[in-house]
Amino acid sequence: MMQATGRLQLDITARLSMSLNNTPMAGNQLNVISGNFVIAQPLGVDDGIDYCHSGRVRRIDIQGINRVLEQGSIALLGPVAGSVTGETFNLLSEEVATQVAIKLNADKLIGFCSEQGVLDEAGNAIAELFPSEVNQLIEQLEAKELADEGHSSGTLRFLRGAQSACRAGIPRCHLISYKIDGALIQELFSIDGIGTQIVMASAEQVRQADIDDIGGIFELIRPLEEKGILVRRSREQLEQEIHQFTLIEKDGLVIGCAALYPYQQEKMAEMACVAIHPDYRDGNRGVLLLNHMKQQSKMMGIEHIFVLTTHSLHWFREQGFLEVGVESLPMAKQDLYNLQRRSKILSVSV
Ligand SMILES: CC(C)(COP(=O)(O)OP(=O)(O)OC[C@H]1O[C@@H](n2cnc3c(N)ncnc32)[C@H](O)[C@@H]1OP(=O)(O)O)[C@@H](O)C(=O)NCCC(=O)NCCS
Repeated sequence: MMQATGRLQLDITARLSMSLNNTPMAGNQLNVISGNFVIAQPLGVDDGIDYCHSGRVRRIDIQGINRVLEQGSIALLGPVAGSVTGETFNLLSEEVATQVAIKLNADKLIGFCSEQGVLDEAGNAIAELFPSEVNQLIEQLEAKELADEGHSSGTLRFLRGAQSACRAGIPRCHLISYKIDGALIQELFSIDGIGTQIVMASAEQVRQADIDDIGGIFELIRPLEEKGILVRRSREQLEQEIHQFTLIEKDGLVIGCAALYPYQQEKMAEMACVAIHPDYRDGNRGVLLLNHMKQQSKMMGIEHIFVLTTHSLHWFREQGFLEVGVESLPMAKQDLYNLQRRSKILSVSV
């Protein structure tokens, strides 16, 4: 074990010593520092089984690791560590990584496994998991491990680590494949990533829009305005109406929006400018926005929501909207109704 770990450590150090001349980091040198940052203790004897040289983390010299990081070097830690008695113990690499990430207050914990992440029944990587879902998965994998005569899977070990990391406040843990070239870059620099992310709170959230969201909303609705699907809005109009908008945001990108214009006297409200980014359609996000608008309306004492649509008649019908005539609209809206656009009017009670 010591030989294998030592060889691996030297291999990684050699890779990180390679010339960076043909990369954007040309002229730089990576410094790699290893040491006795982790102190181990024996697992001991449990249930009559002597675990000999298998150990667990006793303590971590986090100040030492921070000093390495502050000077811009890479701290390379392995799964074999010394103890205070001078013996050497074999640790789980996932345990070392988790404990170090927690002590460092890291933003992320990233693990590599043979699969593309945690796979669903169809074999596709599940993009996002919450700690409660991780608990269920761990139970399933543990049952499988028992049936498989104790064959432990790297995914299971990582999920246990991710669970502890999430509980300790690490916002995101990622599991990606070591078999896919560039998996790390794809995971970190694409909106949906490539593997599985375990998150404390969803990367996607529904919230009221504010003035900083104008750019994002504009980008989302502009192509639909150009196709005549949505009525054109100027930037000034959007600025004035921004507080009427609710949006779905994912990692800083606006992927859905809708606006609600109340007509208090008639106890009616118009839902307008409903748009979901083309890459994120058919994921119930339209319904999510509609439910949000219904809740908002209820709180305002609104009884009916109406929409004017030219292209999404059937979608609204499927959500329980019924076609109504212009005369059902609030008077102020009837005056503004654009006869040439010939939009269909649909209404639903809240
Ligand atoms: C209409 C829209 C908001 C729906 O959002 P979404 O998140 O994709 O929808 P959901 O996931 O909630 O519903 C998906 C279902 O609606 C269907 N659907 C989507 N757009 C539709 C449309 N224009 N007409 C009829 N059905 C539609 C899908 O085929 C899917 O049906 P299925 O479940 O049977 O496969 C979205 O397609 C969109 O942004 N369209 C362009 C803008 C627009 O037309 N806005 C309305 C004008 S106010």
